[in-house]
Amino acid sequence: AHQWRGVIAEYADRLPAHVQERIITLGEGGTPLVPSPTLSQRTGAEVFIKVEGMNPTGSFKDRGMTTAMSAAAGRGAKAVVCASTGNTSASAAAYATRAGMVCAVLVPDGKIAMGKLSQAIAHGATLLQVDGNFDDCLIAARKLAEAYPVELVNSVNPDRIEGQKTGAFEIVDALGDAPDIHVLPVGNAGNITAYWKGYREYAGLDAGAAHPAVATHTPVMWGFQAAGAAPLVKGHPIDHPETIATAIRIGNPASWLQAEEARDVSGGLIEAVTDEQILAAHRVLSAEVGIFVEPASASGVAGLLMLSDQGRVPAGARIVITVTGHGLKDPQWALRTPDGSDVVPVRISSDVVSIATALGLD
Ligand code: F0G
Repeated sequence: AHQWRGVIAEYADRLPAHVQERIITLGEGGTPLVPSPTLSQRTGAEVFIKVEGMNPTGSFKDRGMTTAMSAAAGRGAKAVVCASTGNTSASAAAYATRAGMVCAVLVPDGKIAMGKLSQAIAHGATLLQVDGNFDDCLIAARKLAEAYPVELVNSVNPDRIEGQKTGAFEIVDALGDAPDIHVLPVGNAGNITAYWKGYREYAGLDAGAAHPAVATHTPVMWGFQAAGAAPLVKGHPIDHPETIATAIRIGNPASWLQAEEARDVSGGLIEAVTDEQILAAHRVLSAEVGIFVEPASASGVAGLLMLSDQGRVPAGARIVITVTGHGLKDPQWALRTPDGSDVVPVRISSDVVSIATALGLD
């Protein structure tokens, strides 16, 4: 029987040796690539969804955390730190537990979803709610790691990118070649950097030149930011980023230049979607596709639907959208109607006739 062994073991020949001395894994990766007839029909393309909420802590961060934490463990590190809008902290906390390390997380005060907060605390991280936004937290975490014996596990750590590039490998392995277009949300811009690196390597470019090419081409990269937190779209940092998609509420992405390179070299784009478009896409994913995600994760779908409405999606293109985090991380959005009122469950007695009547079965 085949059991997925985690991304380091599965892609050992494509990952650096220093992450393989002491492997810290929770079995991350191997996530579903789900064809979506609904989105294909709506856009006239062939759309697949890479469901990253199926990772051990419920987001794509686990792919990079196994490599970052393994590298740290290999060096004998005892403590790690990260800044986070929530998912990185949940992942770092879980992998630190596995590694027997101390984990400190800096999160923006009041702006992280309950599910993520619960995870970091349950896994025993020391959680500090910082008076500031994510960008302030990242500056502090970087300074802390420079001056004290703790390792930084944010995506500015190159070991994170190495692990996250395996998302692209899995997609090419599943489809037999790279897609025409890859769509994903962009916050701190680590993931677009990682996917672009993975696709380049699998096409025999850059570090992939040492291996036979697996893909014939690299995809066009389409990234989407939330309109109130869209520095890459505006072309300058945003001092006070705002969006309901708290995971991508980031004003000054650390991998800014790498994101621009992925966009420009691939012939792609990075555009903005409004919170309304994000919530509409969240509803499409939940109620029409069957995949429950957190709001930030719906921004790629929101962007694809926007471009489709504008007639900018090439007919028949093979498109993969990464949905980055699980809906249970931040479930409150499902309990709101499109007009903003609360969803109220129907209350009923337990007799079957009343229930059948309520269901319209009589
Ligand atoms: N989607 C989700 C669910 C995220 O948590 C993040 C980033 C992104 C998309 C954007 O990815 O930063 O690589 O461009 N979350 C980070 C965190 C910032 O702290 O959990 P990115």
